[in-house]
Amino acid sequence: MDTNGSVRRKTVILFPLPFQGHINPMLQLANILHTYGFKITIIHAQYNSPNPSNYPHLTFKPIDEGFSKIVDQLATNLDATYYIRYLNESCVDPFRDCLAKLLLGDQESKIACVITDAAFYFTQAVADELKLPRLTLRTSSMGCVLAYDALPFDSNKTCFCITKEDSDYEVSVPEYPLLKFKDISKITINPQGMGDYVTNTINQMKASSGIIWNTFKELEKSDLETISQDVRTPSFTLGPFHKYFPASSSSLIEQDRTIISWLDKQPPKSVVYVSFGSVALITKSEFQEVAHGLANVGLPFLWVVRPGMVVGSEWLESLPENFQERMGDRGRIVKWSPQQEVLAHPATGCFWTHNGWNSTLESICEGVPMICSPCFVDQPINARYVSDVWMIGVFLEDGFERMGIEMAIKRVMMDKEGEEIRERISCLKDKVNVSLDEGGSSFQSLNNLVDYISSF
Ligand code: UDX
Repeated sequence: MDTNGSVRRKTVILFPLPFQGHINPMLQLANILHTYGFKITIIHAQYNSPNPSNYPHLTFKPIDEGFSKIVDQLATNLDATYYIRYLNESCVDPFRDCLAKLLLGDQESKIACVITDAAFYFTQAVADELKLPRLTLRTSSMGCVLAYDALPFDSNKTCFCITKEDSDYEVSVPEYPLLKFKDISKITINPQGMGDYVTNTINQMKASSGIIWNTFKELEKSDLETISQDVRTPSFTLGPFHKYFPASSSSLIEQDRTIISWLDKQPPKSVVYVSFGSVALITKSEFQEVAHGLANVGLPFLWVVRPGMVVGSEWLESLPENFQERMGDRGRIVKWSPQQEVLAHPATGCFWTHNGWNSTLESICEGVPMICSPCFVDQPINARYVSDVWMIGVFLEDGFERMGIEMAIKRVMMDKEGEEIRERISCLKDKVNVSLDEGGSSFQSLNNLVDYISSF
C-alpha cells in the first residue's frame, strides 16, 4: 500500500462525540488515517476537549457547543438521550460555521470528507448543505445497532420499566430474543427519547456515504450479513482500532501507572481487574457490595473507582470501615488505570466490566475472560453477546450482591467453566490478530476505506 502518494494528501475532518468511549475510537481512527497519508483536522466540543499537544501532527478546531450549561446534570440525570439531543441541537451552528470556514480556507489540500460520530445525526444535513461527503463512525457493536432497531422503543409498551417482581423479568424479548426483559429495562429510562435517537441515528447512517465500524468481521459475521441486507451504504469493518493505536493518549483522566509495578509482583492470571468505564454510576450500597465481594473471594484485585462514580460520594468515602487497611497489598484502588496495559499484563486473570464496547473489544484482544455488569445503553446488549453468544464471560445476573459476586469471580477464576471461557476468548484473540495481518479482513477493509476516501 502506498502511504505517501499525492492523492493521499487530502484532508479528512473528524468530529467526535465528547465522551471518553467515543473520543478514543475517533482519535484512533484519526491516527490510522494519518498513517495512511491523509491530513487530519479534528473539530471538537470544548467539553472533554482532547489534548492537542498529544497530537502535534493533527489540527484541532474547538467549537463552542455550550455543554457546560448542562454538565452538572451528569451526576444525577441518567437519560443519555437528553445529552445527545442537546448536543445535536447546540452544535448545529458552530459546527456548520467551522466546517464552512475550513472548506473556504483550505487551498493546499482538498477536503475529501467529514467523518462524524453516528450519534451526531444532525451532521448529515450540514454535510449535504455544504456538498461534502459524510462518513459515519459507529462506536458501538453491530449487534447493538440491530437490537436498537428491533426493540419497540416507540410503542406504549411498559417493558422498559419492568422490575424483578414482574413475571416477564427473565423472559426473552420477542423482537430480539437474545435479550431478556430485564436487560432492556436497563437500556434507557426514556424509551421515547431512545426511539427518537435510534431512528435519527440509523436514518442518517443510511443517508451517509459510508459507515465505519469499530469491530471485526469474524466477531460479528452474521450481524454484518443481516445489516448488509438492509443497509446499502458501504460498510467498513476495520477494528479493533486500538490495535493500531492505543487509547492512552486520548485519556481524559490521568492514568495511574504506579499499578504496573504492583501487577508485576502478582502471580500469572491471578488478578481480578474491575472497571465500570467512563460514565456509569453506582449507588453506595452497590459500591459496598462490590467491596465485600472482592474482600470475600480472597484474590488480588485492581479496582478502578472513578471520582464521582458512586452517587453522592466524591471518591472512596463509602468504602466499608478499614477496607483498605484490611486488604493491605492484596487490593489496589485507583481513580483511572492504563486499561489496555492492565488487560495485556500476564497477572490479569479476569475483567469485571460494564461492557462498554471499547472495554469489551480490549478484553477480547488480550484474551481476558469477562464478568459482565452492564449499566445502561448498549452495555446490556454487549453483555448478552459476551455471555450467551460468544460465551467468553459470565453474566452477573442479579446486580451487585456480595454472594453472587463471589460466585461469579470463582466461576471464571477457579472453575472448569472459566478454563473453557479462557480457551474461547484466546481463540477470538487469535482471530483478531489474523484479521489485522496483511490479507486479513480488517486489513483489507482499512485499505478499501483508504481507497474510498481517496476517491472523493
Ligand atoms: C460508553 C458505552 O457504553 C460504549 O459502549 C459506547 O460505545 C461509548 O460510551 P464507556 O463507559 O466510556 O462507554 O466505556 P468504554 O466504551 O469501555 O470506553 C472506556 C474507555 O476508557 C476504554 O477505551 C478504556 O480503555 C478506557 N479506560 C477505562 C481507561 O483508560 N482507564 C480506565 O481506568 C477505564
